[in-house]
Formats: sequence, structure tokens, C-alpha cells
Amino acid sequence: MPVTAVIGGQWGDEGKGKIVDTLCDEMDLAARYQGGANAGHTVKVKDKTFILHQLPSGILHPGCICLLGPGMVVDPIAFVEELDQLRKLGIDTAGRVQISLTAHIVTPVHKAMDRATGGVIDTTRRGIGPAYGDKARRIGIRAFDLQDIAGTGKFLVDRLKIALQQGEVIAKELDDITTEVERFFAAALRITDLVGDTIATLQEGLAAGKNILIEGAQGTLLDLDLGTYPFVTSSHPTVGGIGTGLGLPPGSIDRLVGIFKAYTTRVGAGPFPTELTDEVGQRLQKEGSEFGATTGRPRRCGWFDAVAARYACQVNGFTELALTKLDILDNFETIMVCTGYEVNGERVPGFSAAVHALEQVTPVYERLPGWRKSTSGLKSADKLPKQARAYISRLEELAGVPIKQVSIGAERHQILSL
Ligand code: IMO
Ligand code: MG
Repeated sequence: MPVTAVIGGQWGDEGKGKIVDTLCDEMDLAARYQGGANAGHTVKVKDKTFILHQLPSGILHPGCICLLGPGMVVDPIAFVEELDQLRKLGIDTAGRVQISLTAHIVTPVHKAMDRATGGVIDTTRRGIGPAYGDKARRIGIRAFDLQDIAGTGKFLVDRLKIALQQGEVIAKELDDITTEVERFFAAALRITDLVGDTIATLQEGLAAGKNILIEGAQGTLLDLDLGTYPFVTSSHPTVGGIGTGLGLPPGSIDRLVGIFKAYTTRVGAGPFPTELTDEVGQRLQKEGSEFGATTGRPRRCGWFDAVAARYACQVNGFTELALTKLDILDNFETIMVCTGYEVNGERVPGFSAAVHALEQVTPVYERLPGWRKSTSGLKSADKLPKQARAYISRLEELAGVPIKQVSIGAERHQILSL
């Protein structure tokens, strides 16, 4: 199908990179529409593991053109590092990357502000909130402004000075950024050639019937408007973000794939009804290697939350789902699925009725038998143990959308089509 979008259904880290990678073989264009270096999309190819932060995962597929859309906040320092890292791993990015003229730029000031103020939400400290804040206040720096550095550089220097003078950064943090500002200018110079009109590139691709893959970062429950505010990111990972984040009409999306982990994780602060703080949670964390790909922070773990999943399916309009990390549940005797929420003993009608006060809900669980067999070596879905099939069917039923792919390991080939 010409336009496919992949969106996280939970609190991020659903395994979007892996699913995007399996779809990219057929893609001509790959695009990110929101977020920035807060994302960490892991793709394992043979003995190499790639963690992509700002570039779409399509960069691993030769011939796939990669776009960073107007809705992103791009960090030049991290971007140059990512390009260099890919080159070291043998990926040729030359002529395949375009950054939108109007994407906003994350400066060292934003990162310092995030380090100073991101504690409560436990952000990734990548400057995301402050950069989107400046954008909303209409004082941001955009990618085309970087071209100014190649000229006098005066505009940018002045902008940075103003930001510094605003005194939003605690003094200690300010001391640290002088060298970073120098690195910023050097990195910005290196990426100015990549800045271009991504809207035109995308529209031309669309008109020519090219295969386009849109890659969401973060996840539905981290959406600024639809997620668990204030414990969210500052962008719109949900489907609505695609329209403004790329300049692509929502009606042009043919296939919308929602990605869900077979259990739930969350990194950073905020409510999480099915969180397990006992040894079961520790087991999920250990067996699932649940440590952040961007920050290395341990991820909080819990059972699958079908109330939240149904909501994510509704607000995004997913046409199909992919379930990842099913193999992590291989050795569990029983597996729980949250099918409802209660507040003071009363059933809550749905996620949207409680999203503003999620810390008050008690999850209602359904118990399913585990399969206690390894699934990671399976070659086709018909070989899945009976109980694993029952688990998948139950999740489909609760979410209200069919599951079309199940991932059973990090490798490219460890995926089953249903
Ligand atoms: P991918 O794309 C998981 C979380 C942070 C924090 C909150 C706000 O790899 O799934 P921010 O730095 O965005 O201001 O942090 O959002 N967060 C993520 N959690 N996966 C991500 O990205 C995330 N990006 C941000 O932990 O709770
Ligand atoms: Mg991540």
C-alpha cells in the first residue's frame, strides 16, 4: 500500500523500530513527523544493533529516502553523531536524508533547561519540552535559520543570547554549555545542506504512487493532548500529528499499524495502572531487557492494559495491530490482562473517563493460562502454542482491531504473520 503509518499504542518502546524495519523493504520514502532525539528505535540486523534516534529506521534500507518532517524538533549535535555512527556501521546515508526547512531546532539551551527542569516528569533530557515550548511561544529557531551560520551567524548567536538571558536555566547548568554551543555551531554547519522542502518531496512521492512509510515515535499514551498529561511528551505521536507534522492529509494514509508490546512498560514518571512492583515485574524487566534505548533507565513493567489499548485503537483508528515481544511471556504460568478499571469499587466506562486521574484506578484482571514453551524459533503462526493463540485472540477482541503480526525476538526474521 502506498502510505503506511506505524504508531506506538502504549507509552513508547513498543518495538516500533523492529516493525518499521520489516516494512521498509518495500518503501521508497520513510518519514518521521514528531519528537526528536528522545526516541530510541532499535533494529537488529544480523550481529549489528542499530539504535535510531532522529532518522527514520528506513535509513537501514539502501534506496529509501528519509525525511524529518516539520513537526520534529531536530538536535544538530545528536544528528551528526547519529550520521557518524551509521557510517561507522557501514550505512551510506549520502543523498538520502532531508530535514524540513521548518522543523524546529533543539539548541544547547533547550537541553540545559530540560536537565534543570525535566526531573518531575523524568524526561529524556533531550531538550524536547523546551524546544516545543519555544515553538509554541513563537520564538523558536527553525532548520532554515541554520543556513544563517554559513553566512554571518549573527542571527543565531543573537537568538541564543536572548534565550540564555531569559534566565530560565539555573546558573550551574549555564556554566556547562559553552563548549556545547561551539559543538552546536559546528554540527549545524554540517547539516545545513540536508535542509530542504520535505513537504514537496512527500507530495511528489504521493502523486507518483511511491511507497511511503511514516514512523511514529513515543506512543499514544504520551501524546500531549490524548495521553496522561502532564506525564507526556510535548508532541503528538497519535495519528493527528501526521497531518501537521508532515503536511500530509490524514485521508492519504492507507494502512495504519498500531504497535503494542505483549505486556506494558513505561519509562519515566506518571500513572501506570497495571504496573507490577513485585518479582513478576522484575522478571518481565529482566527477561524483556527493559532498559531505555536512549537513556539506559530501567523501564517499569506490568501486564497488558486492554482498557488503554482499546482507547489507543479508537483515537488513532488503527487498521491492524502488531504485537511485539510475545516470547518474553513464554515461561509465565499465568498471564493477566487488564480488562477494566474501578474507582472506589465502581467500574469506569473507559480509558478516556479516567485519563485525567489514572492514579486513582484499580485494574480489574482476567487470568489466562501461559503456554510455557519457547516461541522464538517458530517459523509460522500455525505453530504457536494453543494458549499463545488464545492470548492473541483475546487481546484482539478487547482492543477491537485484528493483530496481523507477532514479533518473537529482536532479529529481522523473528516475526510471524497472522
Ligand atoms: P520511543 O520512540 C518511551 C517519555 C520520557 C518521559 C516523557 C517525556 O523510543 O518509543 P521527553 O523527553 O519526551 O520530554 O519525556 O516521555 N519518553 C519516552 N518513553 N519511549 C520513548 O520514545 C520516549 N520518549 C519520551 O521517559 O516520561
Ligand atoms: Mg525508546
